[in-house]
Amino acid sequence: MQIDFSGKAYLVTGGASGIGAATVRYIAEHAGQAVIADINTEAGEALVAEFPEQLRFHHTDVTELTQLEAACALGADAFGGLDGAVNSAGLGSLGTTTDMPLEEWHKVINIDLHGVFYACRAIIPHLRQRGGGNIVNIASLSGVRGDHGFAAYNAAKAAVINYTRTLALDHGPENIRAVAVCPGFIETPLTAIPGSIDAVRKDWLDAIALGRAGQPEDVALLTAFLLSPAASYITGTEIVIDGGMGSSNNQPNLPKLFGTMG
Ligand code: NAI
Repeated sequence: MQIDFSGKAYLVTGGASGIGAATVRYIAEHAGQAVIADINTEAGEALVAEFPEQLRFHHTDVTELTQLEAACALGADAFGGLDGAVNSAGLGSLGTTTDMPLEEWHKVINIDLHGVFYACRAIIPHLRQRGGGNIVNIASLSGVRGDHGFAAYNAAKAAVINYTRTLALDHGPENIRAVAVCPGFIETPLTAIPGSIDAVRKDWLDAIALGRAGQPEDVALLTAFLLSPAASYITGTEIVIDGGMGSSNNQPNLPKLFGTMG
């Protein structure tokens, strides 16, 4: 599938790395333009250097609405307007309800949930000026199902999914579409856990029907589709992209019962 992004410009939070960077790259390689809004200046500027005509970097902490407004203003100035946002900035943090430091809970909710809300609040006035546009919020399979010891992340990502529904309802009449994308296990710096826990990685891979981890490009391609006119009737929903990871009841030994049942 090839999508032509000529004449289109996007805000991409978390666009300096992983899924966000793969999305920025796809947009640029297909004639589009983007503002990378990220705290990682070095990686963001390196990506801009590859496509200097089509990309801009704005050092942006998504927990600050004013910084997102400034990133949008930069994009509108540079490209003559903005057609959408891909909200990919995020992080995970392990901890249960009783053992997670309160500051950690607030940090995850701030970045993964408030950051999405602020980015949407900043972009919508620009989309109105264009007569509409598209928002893709990168949520997670962890917003659809629970994980052990992932309390804040599960809460934040589930909230992003339902927030995306209300976003679509409130702004659909303005020709603004909003979709939540829910990746499973994607190989990015986020999942390259230091001192890697092989057992965890094996559990993940064992649970994936396709038997492989996803790549950031897999998610970028879905996101590009959702931004494109080909997805013009898709809004207010979540789309899981997980290689079949979320389709299991986690009973891999069930077939061993074959032959023992009358
Ligand atoms: P990544 O770590 O490669 O990229 C995340 C980017 O967000 C980084 O460039 C980082 O600098 C930026 N960021 C973090 N805090 C920020 C802040 N306060 N303000 C602005 N930028 C900030 O991670 P990845 O894997 O690309 O994750 C992207 C999104 O996808 C996240 O929302 C993550 O929760 C979600 N996701 C990732 C999955 C995976 O397996 N990699 C699975 C499901 C969801």
